[in-house]
Amino acid sequence: MARPYVITISCEKGGVGKTTLATNLAIYLKGLAEDLPVTLFSFDNHFTIDKMFQLGNQKSESQVSDIFSGKPLEELVVPGQYGVEYIPSTRQLFELQLQFKGFDQLANVLSSSHLGGVVVIDTSPILDALTRNALFAADRVIVPIKDSSSLENCNHLAVFLQEQERPRSVLRMLPCIIDTRIRFEGPFRNSYQLLKAYAINRGYKCYEGYIAKSPKVESLNTNPAGKLYPVITHGRNTDVHLQFMHLARQVYLDYLKHGPKRMNQLAKQKSEQESIFERGRYERYQRLQKTCLCCDKLIEGDYVWPGAYYLESSNGKLAGFVEQDCFLDLVVEDCFGEQNAKGLQDSLRELLLETAPNSYIMLHRTQLPEDEARFDFYRLDNVGEKISDRQFIIKEKGFFSRAQNSTLVKLFKKVTSEHEQSMPQILFARRSSGNPLNLLEHQKYLEFQTVFNRVLIDTMTEQTQ
Ligand SMILES: Nc1ncnc2c1ncn2[C@@H]1O[C@H](COP(=O)(O)OP(=O)(O)O)[C@@H](O)[C@H]1O
Ligand SMILES: [Mg+2]
Repeated sequence: MARPYVITISCEKGGVGKTTLATNLAIYLKGLAEDLPVTLFSFDNHFTIDKMFQLGNQKSESQVSDIFSGKPLEELVVPGQYGVEYIPSTRQLFELQLQFKGFDQLANVLSSSHLGGVVVIDTSPILDALTRNALFAADRVIVPIKDSSSLENCNHLAVFLQEQERPRSVLRMLPCIIDTRIRFEGPFRNSYQLLKAYAINRGYKCYEGYIAKSPKVESLNTNPAGKLYPVITHGRNTDVHLQFMHLARQVYLDYLKHGPKRMNQLAKQKSEQESIFERGRYERYQRLQKTCLCCDKLIEGDYVWPGAYYLESSNGKLAGFVEQDCFLDLVVEDCFGEQNAKGLQDSLRELLLETAPNSYIMLHRTQLPEDEARFDFYRLDNVGEKISDRQFIIKEKGFFSRAQNSTLVKLFKKVTSEHEQSMPQILFARRSSGNPLNLLEHQKYLEFQTVFNRVLIDTMTEQTQ
């Protein structure tokens, strides 16, 4: 599967030449290798890319923010001028940032896309969630440095990469917008040499050469046609043209040498992780009782009755499903039975069914003297906050005790070991929407466990109080 080699242009300072570098580098790479797919997009709030690459007045449906919408990346990319493909820009990036959970979202999208070749990402001068996503995904981060303060800020990029366990060598500095007319006394004769020396001194790698300050290049952004022109077409007689050619060659050689290493690495990690998750799911599946925990009806193959509740005990002895009707009978009759008339029982059933997708049920048994046990029933919301509760005492043994045959008592017998008779026992249940077996999948089960752990801690604290 074709995976892209990702180049992120980043510097925590504005006006250092990031966008000029991103757009021109894309074109020069295409100029070097016509067959190489080159895709470009920007995480900054401007439309430079669109102004430079848009073919005619063609309006596009897609935009950069769609990258995180779950649509395949290939569908967002549009053909542009100079053979470069691009994703149209947007100003709606700020809202998008608020929804970010991690720094690997872009990497996930890129690594599961079919985009091959090179992807160039222009970023904003702020080290926000989008920039971090672009750094995390990158095979190479090119940092244009214009002066010593842009170099100083580079430290934040290095720290971020280090936190993500990425080598510092991912970063490569490039002195940009260098005015070579300004000369210094001493060993470093101009700001290019000085910046390069500073950078190397701080342990950064640099590209060979630099991008000079050129009035011609500056003017490519401002003209009566309101167009943005690239150096390759409108600045061919400048030094910057040769400098971009030299840079593109170095970048291209890097690409040929390493290929889409980062995306391959991430795809491998992802598939390893998926197989770990799958093993976890399989182990949970193996542990299940293969009958309804209440009525002992057999689960045939993988078919678990729709609407069934998943149930687990705090001591790990019991895990399995209970048919929906069995579970409702258990709650309505065994936990609320003696106090409710038929009509009330029906509305309780309805309430339980209605709230099932967003709630958990907990049952807690405490052994009392003389064959009695106290049961606590709790309904909890989807983060484990108690919504309602009820306590009742059942005489579990004895000739006249109805409870001997109660499903609740039988269920807790399955959980209780002889030697821990007196221990409190907790059963925890949740009904998942769709196939009940979905609850065993990594993410869903993690939620279940998180709430269960919280409940156990809450119960323990209450008991010690
Ligand atoms: N080599 C260059 N010579 C002169 N001006 C340049 C050069 N590169 C970029 N510029 C100008 O500097 C300004 C900032 O460049 P830009 O690429 O937008 O930086 P950034 O994306 O880092 O904010 C722009 O006006 C641009 O035209
Ligand atoms: Mg910019």
